[in-house]
Amino acid sequence: MSDLFSKFDPLIEQRSALLESGITDPFNLVMEKVQSPTVAICNGKRTILLGTYNYMGMTFDSDVVAAGKKALDEFGSGTTGSRVLNGTYSGHKAVEQALKDFYAMDHAMVFSTGYQANLGIISTIAGKEDYVVLDIDSHASIYDGCAMGNAQVVPFRHNDIDALEKRLKRIPEGAGKLVVLEGVYSMLGDVAPLKEMVAVSKANGAMVLVDEAHSMGFIGEHGRGVAEAQGVIDDVDFIIGTFSKSVGTVGGFCVSNHPKFEILRLVCCHYVFTASLPPSVVATAATSIRKLMDSAGKRAHLWENSKRLHAGLRQLGFTLGTDEPQSAIIAVIMPDLEKGAAMWEALLNEGLYVNLARPPATPAGMTLLRCSLCALHSDEQVGEILGMFAAAGRATGCIS
Ligand SMILES: Cc1ncc(COP(=O)(O)O)c(C=O)c1O
Repeated sequence: MSDLFSKFDPLIEQRSALLESGITDPFNLVMEKVQSPTVAICNGKRTILLGTYNYMGMTFDSDVVAAGKKALDEFGSGTTGSRVLNGTYSGHKAVEQALKDFYAMDHAMVFSTGYQANLGIISTIAGKEDYVVLDIDSHASIYDGCAMGNAQVVPFRHNDIDALEKRLKRIPEGAGKLVVLEGVYSMLGDVAPLKEMVAVSKANGAMVLVDEAHSMGFIGEHGRGVAEAQGVIDDVDFIIGTFSKSVGTVGGFCVSNHPKFEILRLVCCHYVFTASLPPSVVATAATSIRKLMDSAGKRAHLWENSKRLHAGLRQLGFTLGTDEPQSAIIAVIMPDLEKGAAMWEALLNEGLYVNLARPPATPAGMTLLRCSLCALHSDEQVGEILGMFAAAGRATGCIS
């Protein structure tokens, strides 16, 4: 019998070697207590959180928490059923209405996660005879959605407008085409040139889907994302998003103005053949989304945090993923996994949590320390963070 696990041997060996060096496991940290969106207790120690997707700090918002508790009391802990059977409660309709209002769009469909939203929408609308043209750095859920739908997958170089155009022009006349883009790419925190890419896609007869997972709530005048900020939201056919980042809970969605959109509720397996989100989750999401509509002050503060951290890290001598701050994610590029893990641990010992990211999640084989800011990080905390980076960077030899 051949061992189906033997394909994982290289990763098992790499992981063992890293842990044998005595380093804390960077992929097994426990949050023993979470005190706020920006502070937790880890290994018994106060730790500033700079590696969550809690961009707008909604997880402890008193209205959001109260809505969840009320729904738990009134509707119970779960629906135990699919949206198309017994799993549509008034809260599911309310959160879909909140999304329609937030995006000013006609249709909204909620999934159990953002991952499932990409799987479901892409695999359902792009079938065997169709083409999906996607940025090579797309999230795993986008690739998996393509694989499930049997469409021809045509990747193009990251954020390269000419490469996108060339790929589109090679597709046979009359074939169905879906261009899949992300607003913010989550590894380096860079934004897509959506204005140009949406124009090129439309000129070549393609529909456009934009995953705005990392921009919702923060980027754009109303927090609708990069498509809004670049003035092309009306030309985007489908926006995918998640409740697991700025909204502060769990769930995924697609919003659209497509007149036939509602049929997806009957043909999309990832919506039909799974239980719907618990009432407490949709209640927290709806409350959070409505509050995000009125969060211009928090958006402005988050931009300030992003600019200050980017400038400060650069000044300390770190190499960053973008020349300018483009989002709430600032990626610090490490020379290799060993150095990255050592720096990650030194930061943790200082009292700072960031994400250690490594291939295959990262582009071009990079090891990254991904910092994601929150609108509730105070000016003092950003100062503390920079002090910790300076100390850990010097202790590990990452900076001089
Ligand atoms: C671009 C992108 N799309 C989708 C997802 C999936 O979101 P969820 O956590 O809701 O499954 C993520 C998660 O990190 C993401 O980065």
